[in-house]
Amino acid sequence: MILIANSEAWPGFARTVAALKAGTYGIDAMIEGIAEVEREPKVRSVGYGGWPNMIGEMECDAGVMDGTTREVGCVGAVPSTIPVAALAREVMRRLPHVMLTGAGARRFADECGFARDDALFPDSKRVWWERLEQELSPEERAKFPDIPLAPLNHTITDPERVRDTTVFLARDAAGGTHAVTSTSGWAWKYPGRLGDSPIPGAGFYADSRYGAAACTHTGEMTMRAGTARSIVLGLRMGLSLIEAVDLAVADVRDLTAGFIGALVIHAIDIHGNHRVVALNCHEPIRYWLWHPALAAPEHREAEHLTA
Ligand code: GLY
Repeated sequence: MILIANSEAWPGFARTVAALKAGTYGIDAMIEGIAEVEREPKVRSVGYGGWPNMIGEMECDAGVMDGTTREVGCVGAVPSTIPVAALAREVMRRLPHVMLTGAGARRFADECGFARDDALFPDSKRVWWERLEQELSPEERAKFPDIPLAPLNHTITDPERVRDTTVFLARDAAGGTHAVTSTSGWAWKYPGRLGDSPIPGAGFYADSRYGAAACTHTGEMTMRAGTARSIVLGLRMGLSLIEAVDLAVADVRDLTAGFIGALVIHAIDIHGNHRVVALNCHEPIRYWLWHPALAAPEHREAEHLTA
């Protein structure tokens, strides 16, 4: 068994460890932990503590992948829903589809009995409006949100708030290697924007025969490079975990046009190895690790790669 998760996983990591120790199916164990992260207002990038889109609406994204069956469930831009990872699991369980977005995802949440949550944390609303107000003329303020948003998309991007997500990767007691993600996405994003967290192959991928990978920070890059799938495919082609992550990093580094920002890649293989690398990150990045040889989860520093 092994579990890794990014630093934002702190509210729920121990709960997932306890569930894995009890033999719980890895996806259920990770969603138990992620539900704690999604409810925690101190985590400012996931669920209730996250940031709204440019018009002040919360739109959350999540993905789950069972590496044994390679079944996937994803939800994107879901309104009024905090436990979006659990909703993604319901897509995987109940539908012949892989992904639902927006109003359709919320309709499905109603059918599954999910509460309609007041997802906008008052402090997030305050920060969002104070930031936006600085950019709007009096005329724009009067008409808001019925103004062109694309020009604002460049000016109000806050590099301190574009990052993060929570990602969990586990190999469970049954030998299943699985991945789960959840995020409120890029702060002040254009409404309807999806990052990589609900995109299998980009923000997450799992295959119980080889390993799993998941990314935090800038989804715009991993969607272009197919990062998580690249790593697992590299393992399949016989690369070591170190080599497979290096391959994915090389593809991201090769991107020169478009949005280029920070990225953190988390990966495990089925031999008990793990690797977490931070690219273009200007502050120390940490992650959580647990496996049965550790008495308690460890909060370790990621490898920082220079651009
Ligand atoms: N990695 C999260 C996002 O881009 O929304």
